[in-house]
Amino acid sequence: MKGIILAGGAGTRLHPITRAVSKQLLPVFDKPMIYYPLSVLMLAGIRDILVITTPEEQPLFRRLLGDGSELGLQLDYAAQPEPNGIAQAFLIGADHIGDDHCALVLGDNIFHGQGFAMVLRDCIRRLTAGEDGAVLFGYPVRDPERYGVGLADESGRLIDIEEKPAAPRSNRAITGLYLYDDQVVDIARGLTPSARGELEITDVNREYLKRDQARLVDLGRGFAWLDTGTHDSLVEASQYVQVLEHRQGVRIACLEEIALERGWIDADACLALGAAQGKSGYGEYVMNVARARGAQAR
Ligand code: DAU
Repeated sequence: MKGIILAGGAGTRLHPITRAVSKQLLPVFDKPMIYYPLSVLMLAGIRDILVITTPEEQPLFRRLLGDGSELGLQLDYAAQPEPNGIAQAFLIGADHIGDDHCALVLGDNIFHGQGFAMVLRDCIRRLTAGEDGAVLFGYPVRDPERYGVGLADESGRLIDIEEKPAAPRSNRAITGLYLYDDQVVDIARGLTPSARGELEITDVNREYLKRDQARLVDLGRGFAWLDTGTHDSLVEASQYVQVLEHRQGVRIACLEEIALERGWIDADACLALGAAQGKSGYGEYVMNVARARGAQAR
């Protein structure tokens, strides 16, 4: 299973903050926004990941994440010159995907909830077994008209999907995490741009729906899917992370911790990664995690 993080776009809704820097590099409390979607792919067990950015910002993403080897990942980079639609990620990433299955996550989507890794693995298992062609994740929201909106039958089979409908048929927003089988590149190649000139992800999902191969998994109330699309929601996302991290003493989307838990790096390597950021609370946390797993105290 390959991963793609789509982290392009003009970020116009957050101007002037995003006039000089990509939205996905903005802080969400103690870490850059892209850490959150990257952590989701890592939790799903995906290590071979393409990061798609604007051409101008690519050096900054590279400086932040490198080639991924420090975390036991393989990160590659590609550019999207213009924001011509989320589904363009599959054309840009066609070589990266090859004949494999693919998980796409939007670089500004933040997920948090207990048991998420298990949910993801189960979905990937179903996909790999050919039981589903596409897996989407639905989340109840107050304002579904701002999102893709899906409707599923009792078994979770997707039966309707619309992009930003004026009169939504359900309150389940389709989140920015999508799992697809090996048909996705061909489907994306067959799309025609929408009225706003974009290759729409909802059109990809509609094609899977037509083939009766799309599943909608409900993330439900006990879960957090946070918005970062406005100045207010960006602050609220930071506050959410801050409150939970302070209360529980654990960090959300700590990449080093996930890599250690997965066995992709050892405790000493984790300690070194923490030490390199040691003057921050984040770095200290990484060092403590490493020490708890037997790294030699420094
Ligand atoms: O966040 C989930 C929603 O994302 C879904 O419910 C919608 O179905 C889906 O269309 C999308 O809606 P948005 O209105 O949030 O899409 P937006 O154009 O804002 O793009 C979402 C992110 O993807 C944003 O951070 C920028 C990035 N992006 C977007 C486009 C269109 C790119 O990197 N390249 C693009 O071409």
